[in-house]
Amino acid sequence: MWPLSFSGQGEIYHEGRVRAVVPPSRASKGLEDVVIGETRISYVGGATGELDYRGFDVRTLVPGVPYESIVHLLLWGEPPSEDPSPEVVRALGEARAPPATAERVADALPRETPPLEALRTILSSLGDGRAEYPPDLPQGFALIARTPVLLARFVRRSHGLAPVPPRTDLSHAANYLWMLTGEEPSAERMRALEGYLGLLADHGMNASTFALRVAISTQSDLVSAATAALATLKGPLHGGAPSRVSDMLDAIGSPETAEAWIAERLARHERLFGFGHRAYKTEDPRGVVLHRMARSVADPERFRLAEEVEKVALEALRRARPGARLYTNVEFYSAVVLEAVGLPRTLFTPTFAVARTVGWVAHALEQASDNRLLRPEVEYVGPPSGRTWPRPVDRV
Ligand code: ACO
Repeated sequence: MWPLSFSGQGEIYHEGRVRAVVPPSRASKGLEDVVIGETRISYVGGATGELDYRGFDVRTLVPGVPYESIVHLLLWGEPPSEDPSPEVVRALGEARAPPATAERVADALPRETPPLEALRTILSSLGDGRAEYPPDLPQGFALIARTPVLLARFVRRSHGLAPVPPRTDLSHAANYLWMLTGEEPSAERMRALEGYLGLLADHGMNASTFALRVAISTQSDLVSAATAALATLKGPLHGGAPSRVSDMLDAIGSPETAEAWIAERLARHERLFGFGHRAYKTEDPRGVVLHRMARSVADPERFRLAEEVEKVALEALRRARPGARLYTNVEFYSAVVLEAVGLPRTLFTPTFAVARTVGWVAHALEQASDNRLLRPEVEYVGPPSGRTWPRPVDRV
């Protein structure tokens, strides 16, 4: 029989007597409010609903500033001399053609592999052991440029279609859509995708960026760290939410059924995707811009449904979790915008990764520029030391 019991008050009992008292926990569950370092890349104002890239409010950048110029700003800290950044256009164009080994990996994956899982393997294959720590800008541009190229190649193959070669005369966003469809995107779709990529490019110490910084802090290479970041982005509490928002809108079906559907879900203590955020206890500024973008690009009926679901969900969440300060997060209208861009749901989170790669690169460079191993502590709350193995141990 298990000889120890725990009182729940920190006391540990053995044979009816208190044997140890564990002091109150020092643990910060979820690392909430724990500051792990300094950054000059982006500022997240959770209480005020602000997001700045290098001092520029994203709401003043998107829509309008090309993604290449946002990449320039995030990587070099200053805006380019003109838009789109000539340096970034050149660097991404030169790095766009991936190595043949990575193409072979993309082509060898089973067709039915979901694109997110495929991208994780493909990203990993970009790390061939030649580009070691510390990360540098050429490695960063290669990662940013090749992620959508290889993803699109895999998606074409998985549909039994021949890959479309990348073009250097198209922007990052337009080339991604071109390689997926073999058609030049309309200006409207292109602008919507470009706005989405710009808004999602960086976001403080989010979970995937944290995973990347932990990996870089061990002096691991950029591709390995980005693979860790992508694995972290996958979860529905982080980047895996937008396809679930679309599923939720489908399941609700019409504005009239929203209230009952949401009430039932909350009664089962299930979460509503696209709501709540660890940092924002007010409106997510990216969500505000995406909402406006969705109004102009989405199918009007879909947009009306989304707005009604949002309204009903916010009211229901305020009733069900009065103290929680839950608002619409970036993923809610991301889903509506990405639908309007024409992407399938399986590409929502991979496209988030396409947007965030620049943030990961910027953070990898920043971490490496003043590195210290990220290695937190954990509080041990298991049985006290001094237990003996229940049978004789042969030590010879
Ligand atoms: N639906 C219902 N209840 C919610 C939601 C939600 N979307 N979000 C939070 N709550 C509730 C929690 O159940 C909790 O209530 P309880 O204390 O009664 O259990 C309370 O609000 C506080 O929630 P936490 O989990 O402590 O908040 P946390 O900061 O850890 O989580 C998170 C933030 C993970 C985003 C959460 O709000 C959530 O799960 N949202 C739904 C998934 C989602 O939209 N993910 C995308 C996030 S955006 C991004 O990462 C790019």
